Amino acid sequence: MTFPIRPIAESEWPDLTRVLEEAFGWTPHPEQSARFKAQTEFDRTIGSFDGDQLVGAASAFSLTMTVPGGPLPVAGVTSVSVLPSHRRRGVLSSLMRRQLADVRERGEHVAALYASEASIYGRYGYGRASSELSFHLRKPDAAFVRDWPQDPSLRLRVVRPADVRADLEKLFASVVTRRPGRYERPETVWDSVLADEEYDQRGAGPLRSVLAEDDGGVRGYALFRVKMSWDAHGLPDGELKLQELEAADPAAYALLWRSVLERDLVSRVEVGGRPVDDPLIALLADQRRLRAEVTDELWVRLVDVDQALASRAYAVPVDVVLEIEDDVCPWNAGRRRLTAGPSGAVCRPVDDAPDVTLPVAALGSAYLGDGRLGEGLQAGLLREHSPGAVRALAAALSWSPKPWCGLTF
Ligand SMILES: CC(C)(COP(=O)(O)OP(=O)(O)OC[C@H]1O[C@@H](n2cnc3c(N)ncnc32)[C@H](O)[C@@H]1OP(=O)(O)O)[C@@H](O)C(=O)NCCC(=O)NCCS
Repeated sequence: MTFPIRPIAESEWPDLTRVLEEAFGWTPHPEQSARFKAQTEFDRTIGSFDGDQLVGAASAFSLTMTVPGGPLPVAGVTSVSVLPSHRRRGVLSSLMRRQLADVRERGEHVAALYASEASIYGRYGYGRASSELSFHLRKPDAAFVRDWPQDPSLRLRVVRPADVRADLEKLFASVVTRRPGRYERPETVWDSVLADEEYDQRGAGPLRSVLAEDDGGVRGYALFRVKMSWDAHGLPDGELKLQELEAADPAAYALLWRSVLERDLVSRVEVGGRPVDDPLIALLADQRRLRAEVTDELWVRLVDVDQALASRAYAVPVDVVLEIEDDVCPWNAGRRRLTAGPSGAVCRPVDDAPDVTLPVAALGSAYLGDGRLGEGLQAGLLREHSPGAVRALAAALSWSPKPWCGLTF
């Protein structure tokens, strides 16, 4: 049995939220729901129907995401949900196929998403493209190396985030293209980042911020909440939950971290979701104390392989014939030659003998520069026909800094 797919109108928002609430076990406050509605692009929201009933949905944001070399329009897949009564009957698969066709028709070459479960999207050609680091640091473990960068012209200013929203937006806009995976934030996204109703606080107090600035203006900010408590002996035992920390230069970055890590009455800093190559790691005198956990973050799908590969920069030159397996987007399947380097790239179909045979998900996985192709080769998930071809391809695709998105969509 198939369930016909059609676009969802804005007037059908209550039906869509019902599916989202049931699928995700989500119980949004009306204002949270209104914020999400304001972000939803209804002209790219589709639903599966069983008769009149909406039983599944998928949507996408029109993101401008940084890829190696610069910004690129990317479909930010979101709101993927199927009613529990209709699960495992192919609703997701038909929505995914339809959505990928729509993305291609719009002229976007790449789709990206955050997966609720890591085992879902590989079958649709998505590959794990970035990872994030979560950790907590106790104050005594947080000393920096001796020569951490310091700038006497920098000073800290404690402010309410809402009062400096324009400064935060400006600073973020100035750093968004520095790392693959980050995306530009429209006002509706900033509304969510700075949301601070009681239900946004989850018992951890209001959103607070510290700016690092000099006479020229703001050079960085930290956004966080502080959950204050005292232990049984009357000793301070507060916890600082870092939401984000952005800086334009190393000195502002280090000063903001010091301000977070040294905050009085706080004994522990909780940090969820930082880049795997976060410069903080290099600043810590005792990196072993970080005890970090690494999890998958963005999943990326090359919707049009030729255009996508031609739209990013490469670390070193490469000339390789790829034989791509893609049964979900068959227009990508077959052989193409990628000739690429720091100054540009061309990728086009050829009949030449392949150097590497690989599933399209492997290219999605490597696209933002995470450089996992070597693992795929060792695991037997891609096949090398010309010795050294995978190493050469992986070197060209890899990037520094490592990809990281930092804000779920
Ligand atoms: C995940 C979800 C969208 C799947 O929808 P569905 O309609 O049941 O999926 P389908 O029936 O189309 O399944 C397609 C394939 O994916 C597999 N699959 C589905 N959900 C899966 C999951 N959570 N984990 C692993 N595999 C999954 C199915 O077994 C099937 O495999 P097959 O092709 O080998 O037979 C649905 O269960 C759901 O809404 N879950 C809760 C919300 C959620 O996690 N959404 C995803 C947000 S990123």
